[in-house]
Amino acid sequence: MIDQRRLPAAFEVVTLHKWSEVVEAIRNMTVRGAPAIGAAAAFGLALAANESGAHDTTAFLADLEFAAAALKATRPTAVNLAWAVDRVVNALGKDLAMKHSLEVDDLRQVVLDESQRIADEDVATNKRMAEYGSNLIHDGDTILHHCNTGALAVVDWGTALGVIRTAHEQGKHINVLVDETRPRLQGSRLTAWELGQYGIPYEIIADNAAGYFLRTGQVQEVLFGADRIAANGDVANKIGTYMLALAANDNKVPVYSVAPTSSIDLSVADGSLIPIEERDPEEVLGLQFHGERVSPEGARARNPAFDVTPNRLISAIITENGIVMPPFDVNIKKIK
Ligand code: MRU
Repeated sequence: MIDQRRLPAAFEVVTLHKWSEVVEAIRNMTVRGAPAIGAAAAFGLALAANESGAHDTTAFLADLEFAAAALKATRPTAVNLAWAVDRVVNALGKDLAMKHSLEVDDLRQVVLDESQRIADEDVATNKRMAEYGSNLIHDGDTILHHCNTGALAVVDWGTALGVIRTAHEQGKHINVLVDETRPRLQGSRLTAWELGQYGIPYEIIADNAAGYFLRTGQVQEVLFGADRIAANGDVANKIGTYMLALAANDNKVPVYSVAPTSSIDLSVADGSLIPIEERDPEEVLGLQFHGERVSPEGARARNPAFDVTPNRLISAIITENGIVMPPFDVNIKKIK
């Protein structure tokens, strides 16, 4: 996998050999982005299957379930992670139920095949979302984008950035205002790097400049992804999304969340039930400016990694099965 902690300074690919290394890579954000961590976790299970020394299927399943629990515990907010892990474990269960004379090696293959299917389907899903979403983008638009939702955050193409990419490929002239996305700067480090690769014009803005650009009529759409969407259409996404959606609504600028249906969690009725990951305060305190830490010695910080944007602030949710319009509590169920 690409080490996303190094970009844009260095493009480094790391090779992981053990499932415990995948656990660490998701936790320390070597790999990040909801669909990307889902696919990574699935391949983590494929490594666990390979590493298991079990001779019978019961012991093998126990090894896999141990790894599955550890992978699922790495990051709590993005539901794609648990979705992908459960999908692989369920594929094993189905296969076991269907056939009676299965060897451990057969099960290893089931795990690998299902992981690869998750990865392949993710690319196709992204392309479909991008096709739907690009219909909402017009020639000459300036789009305000939050966090990183590009190829890095998925298996390939991207969610919200995938829409921008497809619109650009259709020949539409687009300018992107890239929220830097404090504290980990996924916008200025990753989204700007990706847009540069694709030749799409962009300008990085401080997160707190978004309101200015919205209020002065310089933005036609706000686009971001989702880490988990509740049954009523509340969207958990990178911290700062809520403030952005508020400012966009005040200025009647449409707000689009672009996410695969694997990000929709019908088991949570509304966003208040979505667990919000709180990360190390050092991510906030340790930022440097001109080579010096930005915070005084001994300062304390809070660092929620996500927030929830209530459904009333979302104009549409773009999925691979189509565009969902309000009322989301009714329409989301029809698309999943
Ligand atoms: O903490 P991160 O960088 O994993 O958060 C990622 C985001 O919030 C993305 O916007 C989200 O996963 C949706 S786009 C793939």
